[in-house]
Amino acid sequence: MGIQRIESVTYGIDDLGTCVRFFDDFGLLPLERSDEHAVFETRTGQTLHLDTAPGRRLPPPVEDGPTLLEVVWGVDTRAELERLVAAAGRDRPVRQDAAGVFHTVDETGFGAGLALARHRPADVTPRPANTLGSVTRWNTALEPVTRVRPLRMCHVALNIPKEGREKAVAFYVDRLGFRPTDVVEPMGVFMRAPGDDDQHTLLLCHRPDRAGVNHVAYEVPGFDDVVEGGNHMIDRGWREARRLGRHTVGSNVFRFVHAPCGGRVEYAADMDRVDDTYETRVHATAPPHHIWALRTNRDQHDAPAS
Ligand SMILES: [Fe+2]
Repeated sequence: MGIQRIESVTYGIDDLGTCVRFFDDFGLLPLERSDEHAVFETRTGQTLHLDTAPGRRLPPPVEDGPTLLEVVWGVDTRAELERLVAAAGRDRPVRQDAAGVFHTVDETGFGAGLALARHRPADVTPRPANTLGSVTRWNTALEPVTRVRPLRMCHVALNIPKEGREKAVAFYVDRLGFRPTDVVEPMGVFMRAPGDDDQHTLLLCHRPDRAGVNHVAYEVPGFDDVVEGGNHMIDRGWREARRLGRHTVGSNVFRFVHAPCGGRVEYAADMDRVDDTYETRVHATAPPHHIWALRTNRDQHDAPAS
């Protein structure tokens, strides 16, 4: 099979205190903290590493300022891990660390790691919903979600330079086994890991001339979590990056927040699931970014007449 999921992400950062406060507020679970670094995890045991001194253990950042340095991909079996390490290492060094994680670099300069997946199941009870003809909630009222706890990192979106984009995509598809799901010719390639059924696990989004982290998305159980999670971040003083909406490609409900570690983070829910019968869709023109985005004219109407 091969890659199952994102296993960990590492950011090179300046301000550890601010980044720790951000991910605490975001709902990740703290695991480790020192003067130089901190580690958080999702409910399914994927780890987020914040490092003020990554040194030579990781590749140099692809952009100025705090940013994503590496994504480690979790693989199902040792045999598959060996096969992928050999495929990745055909034309570049691959280094194994003391914990058994293999590290290399993709075509853009982002660290690409490979490790055995450490799956940890999380109990998820979807909120019962009611609609005419399909009632699953009787004699009870909904409670606020209160504290959102992301289930998992579900996808990563990386900006890559337009020049050389075919090679950048080929590294993930031909070497690491990712499957393109939607190819948006003017924008980028959505792809999924073979062991994941989300419509995309990785998006390589091409830009005229720059590379950088675009966002990391975290799945939460439902729509309420996306809304309440975003509200909580705003209450805590963080800046929303995009209005609540639902994407066209992937259908996920989203809410984005600017992240002090670089790029943005996304609360995501209800993404399309696909299997091997899903054929790659090629779009000559970019589909609209979203099916809908929250719109309001309340502020204009509330404004005092001048
Ligand atoms: Fe996303």
